[in-house]
Amino acid sequence: MQTLAPLVVLLGTGGTIAGTARSANDGVGYTAAQLNVDDLLRAVPALSACRLEAHQVAQLDSKDMDFLTWQRLAAVTHEHLARPEVGGIVITHGTDTLEETAYFLHRVLAPTKPVVLTAAMRPATALAPDGPQNLYDAVQLALAPGAAGVVVSLAGRVHDAIQVRKTHSYRVDAFESSDGSLVALVEEGRVRLLGRWPAGEALGLARIQSPADQWPRVEIVMNHAGADGGLVRALVTRGIDGLVAAGTGNGTLSCGLESALRDAEAAGVRVLRSTRCDAGPVMDLPGLLPSAGALSPVKARIELILALLAAP
Ligand code: SIN
Repeated sequence: MQTLAPLVVLLGTGGTIAGTARSANDGVGYTAAQLNVDDLLRAVPALSACRLEAHQVAQLDSKDMDFLTWQRLAAVTHEHLARPEVGGIVITHGTDTLEETAYFLHRVLAPTKPVVLTAAMRPATALAPDGPQNLYDAVQLALAPGAAGVVVSLAGRVHDAIQVRKTHSYRVDAFESSDGSLVALVEEGRVRLLGRWPAGEALGLARIQSPADQWPRVEIVMNHAGADGGLVRALVTRGIDGLVAAGTGNGTLSCGLESALRDAEAAGVRVLRSTRCDAGPVMDLPGLLPSAGALSPVKARIELILALLAAP
């Protein structure tokens, strides 16, 4: 009896990979999230040899990503991962908040099968679109023997959900792993493992069940020359559950910002200290506000939201 190859489920959420412009030489004046996931597949004839199933979960420019879409995406991803015939999931996404969605799915699902997020910096109508190659590579990753966990694949480079950051606003190779350790490379459709497939403990879908419009409100404030903490005080007055401080260097804060954050903490607001640097951890030292470790401010915010969702 012939055994069927594993099925890859493709989930579309929009982004530039599904974007269109009026002319092929317009790489920035386009509209994201115009093509559906079946259109994206049609642009990669080589994928017709794979067992694929496509679903549209959302259709948005990822600058507008929201909690409701995250909740739906996590549930749909979980549902397909549970199917025995499914070998892996590919999610097409905008690049702008890709690292946030990847981290959210990593913390909630920590899947033992691969969940590969991919995207494009150029719209589908560009002279040389990067989306078809990225989609092809993502499917190869989803089928790679031993692959597991949430990874981000663009321009042939595969990042884990913890380190990955968008570091360039225009270049096709726009993402980096902040500590420099890539998970893998995809070369001519072959996956070359450099590190380890990401693993972790899943928080589970139960953690994110409450209505998305009632999720904790967590904002990010930055330290900078002249930061006096006025923004923190305004946020506390308005009503806030958590604050992430994007500090300077090793998470340092101006006297005014630190004092406002300490007052916020005393008033019951959860505070985490991250850094506005592009890489590196914030060292925890006694007496300082709690550190977010090596998480970027946007990922520290997700961590805090998930922690607050567990609070009674
Ligand atoms: C988006 O994030 O949806 C638009 C930008 C992009 O995908 O590069």
